[in-house]
Amino acid sequence: MKMTSLRLLLWCFSGVITRNHCLPPIGTQPEQVHISYPGLKNSMLITWSSANETESVVEYGVWGGKLFTHSAKGTESVFVNEGVEQRVMFIHRVLLSNLTPGASYVYHCGSSFGWSDIFFFSALNESVFFSPRFALFGDLGNENPQSLSRLQKDTQMGMYDIILHIGKMLCLRNGVNMIIFPAMDW
Ligand SMILES: *[C@@H]1O[C@H](CO)[C@@H](O)[C@H](O)[C@H]1NC(C)=O
Ligand SMILES: *[C@@H]1O[C@H](CO)[C@@H](O)[C@H](O)[C@H]1NC(C)=O
Repeated sequence: MKMTSLRLLLWCFSGVITRNHCLPPIGTQPEQVHISYPGLKNSMLITWSSANETESVVEYGVWGGKLFTHSAKGTESVFVNEGVEQRVMFIHRVLLSNLTPGASYVYHCGSSFGWSDIFFFSALNESVFFSPRFALFGDLGNENPQSLSRLQKDTQMGMYDIILHIGKMLCLRNGVNMIIFPAMDW
């Protein structure tokens, strides 16, 4: 009797796994989140993409404080991939304004149909005496990426205030259908 229920349990469990495995990814989940300085004092622009249409929301708060005390809404635009599949994607942009210069913030982006991981950034120090530390790199690739791990670690250690990314940030799918972020954010 016990063996039967165990077998039934295992069967149910494997059923759940198999079924989940077959589900397509959730298209309203944020992907490819990045930040950029829009050239407006005390602000930061959060950009991401999603496969399906959804709202553009960023919830944020000061580092070390209560999470997500602030919320900002943005805009969504359609991006049609130039590959043979002509894949349609949605690009979300949310401007965070009235940030405290030099303060660190924690945020996530998305909507009530799916949130990103939690990320953090520091608002730009607006003092005329401020001398930012720059990192500069070209096209981002993941084949023999000699500098990538160093950039990742140095950034996590807070060594840079500004990173200039000169070139494409791209991802190949099937070798043909590419997802390329529009260059205007950089
Ligand atoms: C989500 O996007 C995919 C790919 O474009 C599309 O096939 C699907 O119908 C969309 N789903 C909804 C609910 O809009
Ligand atoms: C901004 O930079 C200036 C000059 O280095 C410094 O004196 C000041 O403390 C910085 N402000 C913040 C909020 O970090």
